[in-house]
Amino acid sequence: MGLPWRIAIDGPAASGKSTLGQRLAAHLGYLYVDTGVMYRAVTWAALRRGVPIADEAALTGLAETLDLDIAPPTVQDGRLYTVRVDGEDVTWDLRRPEVDAAVSQVSAYPGVRRALTRRQRQIGLRGRVVMVGRDIGTVVLPEADLKIYLDARLETRAWRRYQELQARGADVPFEAVLETMRQRDALDQGREVAPLRPAPDAVVLDTTALDIEGVFQKVLDLIAARCRETSHVAG
Ligand code: DC
Repeated sequence: MGLPWRIAIDGPAASGKSTLGQRLAAHLGYLYVDTGVMYRAVTWAALRRGVPIADEAALTGLAETLDLDIAPPTVQDGRLYTVRVDGEDVTWDLRRPEVDAAVSQVSAYPGVRRALTRRQRQIGLRGRVVMVGRDIGTVVLPEADLKIYLDARLETRAWRRYQELQARGADVPFEAVLETMRQRDALDQGREVAPLRPAPDAVVLDTTALDIEGVFQKVLDLIAARCRETSHVAG
């Protein structure tokens, strides 16, 4: 093995996964896939169509059939990709507070997970990919060559998310962001199917006191070390 060619990044909301994943993918020339977007798109479509979030069978049907397209950015407005549902650009709608509030419930449904995991594995197995989510190292791509689990204190993550929302003009009090994040952590970690947790062979990095540059450098060091180890074993 030269470079690790399937990289899994997992961790709770606002731990820095997307920023790290995107930078790493750009640096390596790999495809960047943010799997949270798929759970958000199913949630958004349910809200838009008036499907009750509690209707597990309907949500599963939606996950199986949704016309979902994730493509390179089509607008230079800070987005990392363009997401279309039924041809409509919903990239920023997926970040709305009502999607935030419902997405953990949707992503706990086994049928929804089965449908989206299948879509994600198809993409991941092609290789040269950095895939970001909650269960990539444990369920979606257990054979990934490098697994990173990012973590940070709840208050730090809530503060990061609050600043992101402010920057986009959303006027949500910090306390509300903190509370939503606390609830999402509990749901993501407590669900029966594919709960959020590090894979046994994941490298756990705490980003509370690190900026993105620090995290990026640490991961590049890890990749370099892996390459040295494998060439040593091979030689
Ligand atoms: O990373 P994010 O905040 O965009 O994720 C949105 C939701 O989707 C979050 O509540 C957890 C869920 N999710 C998941 O269960 N499994 C994944 N692989 C990715 C996201």
